[in-house]
Amino acid sequence: MLVCICKGISDKDIESAVHEGATGFGDVRASLGVGGCCGQCASYAKDLVKDTISQLQLSQALHLAQEVSC
Ligand code: FES
Repeated sequence: MLVCICKGISDKDIESAVHEGATGFGDVRASLGVGGCCGQCASYAKDLVKDTISQLQLSQALHLAQEVSC
């Protein structure tokens, strides 16, 4: 799904940026330029970054817990 019409950035682009090391909206904005034009996408993009970081942290915690329990 296209998130930022101005820059042509999709939800997958934002999720990939988080998986590649972005730690917040500022990092994603710096690397992709999302929200840097009209700003209409910024609120949704921030929520998407937060959700993706939360999912990534949960996934990493579950993976770590599985390693410890074996
Ligand atoms: S839609 Fe993202 S900056 Fe305009």
